Amino acid sequence: MQIMLSGDRPTGPLHIGHYVGSLKNRVALQNNHHSFLLIADAQALTDNMADPDKVCRNIREVALDYLAVGIDPTKSAMCVQSCLPALADIAMLYLNLVSVARLERNPTVKDEIRLRGLARDIPAGFLCYPVAQAADITAFKATVIPVGQDQIPMIEQTNEIVRRVNRQAGVSCLPEATGLLSATSRLPGVDGQRKMGKSQNNAIPLSASPATIHEAVQRLYTDAGHIRISDPGQVEGNAVFAYLDAFDEDKDALEELKVHYRRGGLADKDLKQRLETLLQKLIEPIRERRLALARDPSFVWDVLQEGTKKAHTITQTTAEDIRSALGLFRFATARRP
Ligand code: TRP
Repeated sequence: MQIMLSGDRPTGPLHIGHYVGSLKNRVALQNNHHSFLLIADAQALTDNMADPDKVCRNIREVALDYLAVGIDPTKSAMCVQSCLPALADIAMLYLNLVSVARLERNPTVKDEIRLRGLARDIPAGFLCYPVAQAADITAFKATVIPVGQDQIPMIEQTNEIVRRVNRQAGVSCLPEATGLLSATSRLPGVDGQRKMGKSQNNAIPLSASPATIHEAVQRLYTDAGHIRISDPGQVEGNAVFAYLDAFDEDKDALEELKVHYRRGGLADKDLKQRLETLLQKLIEPIRERRLALARDPSFVWDVLQEGTKKAHTITQTTAEDIRSALGLFRFATARRP
């Protein structure tokens, strides 16, 4: 069985973009992979160091989201990143294998820097987080990484580091990883932004109430040129259709809707109604399961503690493997003079 690893920063509740982008894949993959889910609190601190309390609080929220969408703790170990010191040890070594120029070329990091308006004022930890993520992935010797499109550059960077370590070690100590994208690897935000984001106030959380779902769908933009119902409408760049593509299983009916919309005569209101019904049906059971789970806080605690313990053993072993492959000093193998 291959090893699957994925994870999320605990900076807010997970949303339907995460669901179609990668959670759905993770739920399916846990049945035939050794699965690990990393709640990346250390990575969240790279741009939230002023508010560690927010990060701490959201660890539990992300764990609840995982459980509510169907992650089974007997199949997937859920672990807390900052409680795994081997990840930091490995990241520290990898930092010497990557140039600052390479870090600055990472397209996702570039995007995030632009989004936050940080320019050169970014925390050094933020610039380096792709290297820490390479440490995460390799510490588990994971080969399957279900993620959204924005994480592909992290996997490329990971594999560059893997090749360097293996070349220097002269043995194949670490495996390369593959990013697994879903059909919808980027869902637009409800505000019309390119991407739905946890911290951008443009997301529909997996815990959203019926009223929140309704308002979010109302907020979605369609085609600004579609003024009268009888006007021909545009499907491309129309957020409602982007969402229908992601959530409507009835692809034939959806194709017909697109033809009708393009021809004219299909009201935005009817389109939105169809989408809202789908989203209410998707989210309702997740929300209910989440509420039930939240009533038993010690259950979530135990799941996290057990998952972290399991991950600790594995990542500690890999850190030792890497140290010995690179010929670093270890008391375990060095001779006392
Ligand atoms: N960067 C990921 C995100 O922002 C979170 C993450 C941290 C991750 N470590 C990982 C994802 C390892 C996959 C594998 O969502």
